[in-house]
Amino acid sequence: MKPFLLLFTAIFLIPSNNTSFAQNSRQRLLMDKGWKFSQTDTVGADKTAFSDNKWRTLDLPHDWSIESAFVQNAPTGGGGGYLPTGIGWYRKRFNMPKSALSKAVWIEFDGVYQNSDVWINGHHLGHYPNGYMSFYYDLSGQLKSGENIITVRVDNSLQPNTRWYSGSGIYRHVWLSMADPVHIAQWGTYVTTPKVDSASATVSIKTQIDNQHAAAKNVIIRSLVVDATGKEVGRSESPIGVAAKDSGVSDQKITVTSPALWSVETPNMYNLRTQVIDRGKVVDEVTTPFGIRDIQYDANKGFLLNGKRVKMNGVCLHHDAGSVGAAVPEAMWVRRLQILKEMGCNAIRTSHNPVAPEFLDLCDRMGFLVQNEIFDVWKAGKVKYDYSVYFDKWSQHDLRKFIHRDRNHPSVVMWSAGNEIGEQSQPQGFNVLRPLIETFHREDPTRPVTTGNDHIAADGRSATPDFLKLLDIVGYNYVDRWRDRRELFYDIDKRSHPEWKMVGTENVSISGVRGSYHGGGFGSVDSSQIRAANMPGVIRAEQLWKFTSLHDYVIGDFMWTGIDYIGEARWPAKNASSGVIDLCGFPKDAYYFYQSQWTTKPMIHLAPHWNWRGKQGKVIPVMAYTNCDTVELFLNGRSWGAKAMQFPRPGNSGAWNRYDVAPVGITTADLHLAWDVPYEPGVLKAIGRKGGKVVVEEVIHTSGAPAAIRVSVDRATIEAQPGDVAHVTIKVVDADGHVVPDAAEPVQVRVEGAGKLIGLDNGNPVDHTSMKSDQRNTFNGLALAVIQSNNKAGSIRVNVNSSKLKGGSITITVNKPGVQIAEVQSSKQ
Ligand code: GAL
Repeated sequence: MKPFLLLFTAIFLIPSNNTSFAQNSRQRLLMDKGWKFSQTDTVGADKTAFSDNKWRTLDLPHDWSIESAFVQNAPTGGGGGYLPTGIGWYRKRFNMPKSALSKAVWIEFDGVYQNSDVWINGHHLGHYPNGYMSFYYDLSGQLKSGENIITVRVDNSLQPNTRWYSGSGIYRHVWLSMADPVHIAQWGTYVTTPKVDSASATVSIKTQIDNQHAAAKNVIIRSLVVDATGKEVGRSESPIGVAAKDSGVSDQKITVTSPALWSVETPNMYNLRTQVIDRGKVVDEVTTPFGIRDIQYDANKGFLLNGKRVKMNGVCLHHDAGSVGAAVPEAMWVRRLQILKEMGCNAIRTSHNPVAPEFLDLCDRMGFLVQNEIFDVWKAGKVKYDYSVYFDKWSQHDLRKFIHRDRNHPSVVMWSAGNEIGEQSQPQGFNVLRPLIETFHREDPTRPVTTGNDHIAADGRSATPDFLKLLDIVGYNYVDRWRDRRELFYDIDKRSHPEWKMVGTENVSISGVRGSYHGGGFGSVDSSQIRAANMPGVIRAEQLWKFTSLHDYVIGDFMWTGIDYIGEARWPAKNASSGVIDLCGFPKDAYYFYQSQWTTKPMIHLAPHWNWRGKQGKVIPVMAYTNCDTVELFLNGRSWGAKAMQFPRPGNSGAWNRYDVAPVGITTADLHLAWDVPYEPGVLKAIGRKGGKVVVEEVIHTSGAPAAIRVSVDRATIEAQPGDVAHVTIKVVDADGHVVPDAAEPVQVRVEGAGKLIGLDNGNPVDHTSMKSDQRNTFNGLALAVIQSNNKAGSIRVNVNSSKLKGGSITITVNKPGVQIAEVQSSKQ
């Protein structure tokens, strides 16, 4: 099996439990299929007898905002990406066997945006405002044998309530869980590894047992640690007595010898299998994936993973994935995370809200360090109807649940209580922070807490010392923003507070629009010139990286952002362009700056493209990002000279005039190389050398006119599961097969056979074509179609046509899933 498939299957293995309702032990069934949906607020739709015959039938996850057109006067405004929001209703009928009525049964929502109300058979279960947190309701006592109805009203009508695109609806999975009345509580296992070395590790396990019986229960908790091959490597059994209608917590320790440690390079995972044994019979069982790893933060050394210093090369990410909005199939995050991994990124800040549970599963399995952030606001709001409205009533509840849900992930190495919180500057703001920190420490003493502070050293409304000193790690947003810090970064604070631990929670990246080289933007020297990159951004990013990488005490940096996201835009743009990867997942030039600094496999990236009709003889700035010692540039065979850089520049080590690494005769102290080259069409070629040897070449051609569409797919085989998708890259090429880097050609995507198109985008921030349309223009030569199966094995033919060009097509095979996810049976309508 390919690594991709393995990974994908692993994600589904976690929640799936391929058993039928009739069995005794735990069931966790996906409840995504066959929902009825109406996008109008409907009186009486919560009642069982209500007729939803005319409503649309759909499968979850579902985001109704992304289905609409972008409209300039949408109430959510630029924050929400000019997409409509409003109110929606969902209803689902499902069958329950009689045996279920004596069980504990609950329904889990991974995420509903927002202000949801849920009913079972007309009985109101609750109201939940938070649009990003997972939540659940106990259905015990409310179910009937035979048909039952779950109804959900989602109210995203109060606008603006967000600073970025939220999506609307039940945009994550829904699950139905059924267990014995004495069972492991939802998010009831807590695994930590308090003592870890290569010889042995202590695995500490706390298990909450809920007893819904009317009588006290004495049961045994059996915890088994199982390695990646399925072999049991440790166990513990302990008795626990739980009073009627009460809960109890068991505490166990297991020693694992020669543990396979979790790290960024080798993200080894284990499974904890927890069983509840009642009178000799296993009545409940839950599997919790976890990793064995040691994390330490040191005021001088930064972050240590298993005793080894690791700099966090991080990116901030929002939760949408472009053309599918907030309803993101797992495989889209697999692709996006792979692209980030290839950039050398090893850390992610989940800005600024809880993410889908499977996102953290992927981070575990792919080896990312996660700064897990919960809030963008506390009591002091940023937009009228944001979470500040709910903070007093809900923040402690949401925080506890967030920690319980996410605290078993080895990838999660740091919590963030909030982003650019207004309270950082308020004299009493620390009193809002304190209870949050206390809850973090109580519910998970193993990870430090930070906040992303943008007002450290601000003129006038500086973050208060009382606020900052409560933090385990002081988080800096835009550390270079204030005066001297433009050059000194963290240095001033480090001198006054040597004991502080410091991280760049959010900092400048090299924003820009993929493949666009016109206009100067903020601070440019000459806006009429072609520019190879957004220079102020490049210089700032280079200076910051030099400081961060040379100062061990800086834990790392999370730049804003890894990938473009919908919203936080000003019309005509509907998405932010702060990513080094566009909405489709196509790397921009800036991506390669980070790759040049964060990876060692020889690479060169040249910018801009080499299609400058009408600019013959005009000077074009050519830039190279590289991790080679020297790069020599050639235009049509003529050398424009070799340029060289080395960072860090080696100093003498061991003895006078002795070097561990041979110094290079550098030509620049920047982290990029540049040549001013008078334009002539043809071939631009760069040769990279290391230690005097040629290690890599990069070539770009002036292309001819658009001639054809070329399509390629990231995976020619997908599984018949909604979470699995194929990404079809559409390229406009000339007669020689070279990509035409500025081509804007209309394309139409037709899908035949066992699949469908679920999103088509080109990464252009000002293109207002609906993401669900099957037609749009390519943008700077590219577009991306996302193809999902119809949940049946077979084959999918994707045809991409363009009126003037030769079309392209590709076949995708849909296999029966390796692991079938057990689903709730819908009842007949
Ligand atoms: C930051 C903020 C982010 C985003 C960014 C835009 O200050 O934390 O959420 O708004 O600015 O540049």
